[in-house]
Amino acid sequence: MNEDIKEVLYSKEDISRISHKIGLQLTADYKDKNPLVICVLKGAFLFMADIVREIQTYVEIDFMDVSSYGDETVSSGEVKIIKDLDVPAEGRDIIIIEDIIDTGKTLQCLVELFKHRKANSVKICTLLTKPERRVAGIEPDYVGFEVPNEFVVGYGLDYKGRYRNLPYVGILKPEIYENN
Ligand code: PRP
Ligand code: MN
Ligand code: MG
Repeated sequence: MNEDIKEVLYSKEDISRISHKIGLQLTADYKDKNPLVICVLKGAFLFMADIVREIQTYVEIDFMDVSSYGDETVSSGEVKIIKDLDVPAEGRDIIIIEDIIDTGKTLQCLVELFKHRKANSVKICTLLTKPERRVAGIEPDYVGFEVPNEFVVGYGLDYKGRYRNLPYVGILKPEIYENN
């Protein structure tokens, strides 16, 4: 598995450090607000676990499973809700946790959905952002790192369902996806 990686961009330690920093900001910004922290499955599962453990105030957590890519390396632009929230979004201060913002289409759909459901506020927290690929006018409120326009995997990010368990973010060797 590690041999499929061309270059490690962010180590476990880098991610741990940035999660702590973002956690401090979220703790200050959401004290006494009882925010609803939403993990966008599947990619955000590891970052979500890191972030919520760094927030030192009351939060409620929930999960949504949406998918836009399927098995492709290029976004289809269509976001399917596979699993919805278990609790109402109305009146809540929502923090959406993502692993990466690429075109921004996934988050654009989610932000619109929560506004339609009358959330009190909606903010975005993402481990990675790939600004070069942005199509939708969506920017994160809390962001870990910027990544170049390359196929990145690991720490939740997959290629065909694989590599999510890599404890770092790295660039996938082009021959892995070119030959498939
Ligand atoms: C990936 C990633 C983000 C989204 C970003 O999810 O985890 O959720 O795409 O792309 P966008 O900004 O172009 O919309 P994916 O649809 O691959 O599902 P997954 O998290 O289950 O891998
Ligand atoms: Mn995702
Ligand atoms: Mg994916």
